[in-house]
Amino acid sequence: MASDDLPCAAAGSARSHAERVRGLDGARVLVGVCGGIAAYKAAHLVRGLVASGAQVHVVPTPASLQFVGAATWEALSHHPVRTSVFEDVDQVAHVRLGQEADLVVVAPATADLLARVRMGRADDLLAAGLLVTRAPVIMAPAMHTEMWEHPATRENVEVLRRRGVHVMDPAVGRLTGADSGPGRLPEPESILDRVRAVAEAPRDAEGRVRQDLAGQRVLISAGGTREDLDPVRYLTNASSGKQGWALAEAALARGAQVTLLAATVDRETPSGARRRDVRSAEDLAAAVAEERGQHDVLIMAAAVADFTPTTRGAAKIKKDDSGGVPELPLRRTPDILAESVQARHDGAPSPRVIVGFAAETGDDAATALEHARQKARRKGADLLVVNDVSGDVFGSDRNAVHMLDATGEELSRAEGSKTAVAHAVLDAVVECAAEALDRRGGDVP
Ligand code: C5P
Repeated sequence: MASDDLPCAAAGSARSHAERVRGLDGARVLVGVCGGIAAYKAAHLVRGLVASGAQVHVVPTPASLQFVGAATWEALSHHPVRTSVFEDVDQVAHVRLGQEADLVVVAPATADLLARVRMGRADDLLAAGLLVTRAPVIMAPAMHTEMWEHPATRENVEVLRRRGVHVMDPAVGRLTGADSGPGRLPEPESILDRVRAVAEAPRDAEGRVRQDLAGQRVLISAGGTREDLDPVRYLTNASSGKQGWALAEAALARGAQVTLLAATVDRETPSGARRRDVRSAEDLAAAVAEERGQHDVLIMAAAVADFTPTTRGAAKIKKDDSGGVPELPLRRTPDILAESVQARHDGAPSPRVIVGFAAETGDDAATALEHARQKARRKGADLLVVNDVSGDVFGSDRNAVHMLDATGEELSRAEGSKTAVAHAVLDAVVECAAEALDRRGGDVP
């Protein structure tokens, strides 16, 4: 094996926190694959990581090669694959892989791997790499429900989480046999979302993701509401839910407890989030009113319909031969954000920080930002995240925002992936929460 096949030619040097790459572009990502049938799904994960610009090194456990062979990993990652600590001994590969990684992802992580890592064992190349690395580690477990629920696994997961490992909850659904329950590997896209959230997150001095939202209950609305006209037609908007999902993933990575109010979003629930599905603006208004008193932060990222049909026809609206079109009378929906600000003003149990989003376009009267300043003052939310949607924002992976306070003053700007924007919004939330505490004399919520 040539030494330049190794992840780094600078022998023995651990990458310091400052040297580590933020985000996935150019990051060295070590992907561990354990011996479970879900190993095949990791192929999509590796593809996604490579497509995001990461330098991927796959370390399969020997047992996993029974499911997916080394050739698959070499072809997808464009790097050679080793599994044993006795390969490339002269290059100390078992140490360097872990040392040089900016991020480590294990998918699927079996019960056995969780137990070995908890014990600090180094009996194969993957376990050795995990013992050496100081980079953030994400584990996506997959196993039968009985194994996941066994007290030994529960304890191993708890200990690993306490040590700062991002152990995702498995998805609930059909397992390998006829049984179903918690234990499925989350979909590769979901794992990738969490990996992005961890990769872009702010870090502490040791390089671990800052847990500045630990214990905070964060309520996030995402997606776009759907206003029914009749049993088959509805009014909706172009919101994909991506920004709301990125906020949920980012908040989870930073230690928050997240409730996601999903307005017609067809995506897997972020691992560890509690989800409530809603359809119309009125459903969302009811869900927010029920939930906001039990949350510390409210982030209204959903695109909520401003108008809804006054009646919903029980039968499909018919077209006749006259060529005429039906009248569709509309009425205003409740402004949930303004209601939430008002409820707090009236002394109801409320989030300490309330965040709104505003999609704005400029016109002859004013620029998008000027319109947004007026909206910030009207709505009174602690933070208004404004994006200029004159460009191609909906469904895109990128975003550019300005953050305004309730007086319309600009606090900060952020541009980049929706994950990077999510973290910038959360940075502002953390600051707002600290200011709110200061104003109230430092009492704990
Ligand atoms: O007024 P506009 O729709 O631009 O405001 C956008 C912000 O207000 C978003 O945070 C959105 O979730 C929220 N909103 C709301 N209720 C509505 C309309 C928008 O809470 N009926």
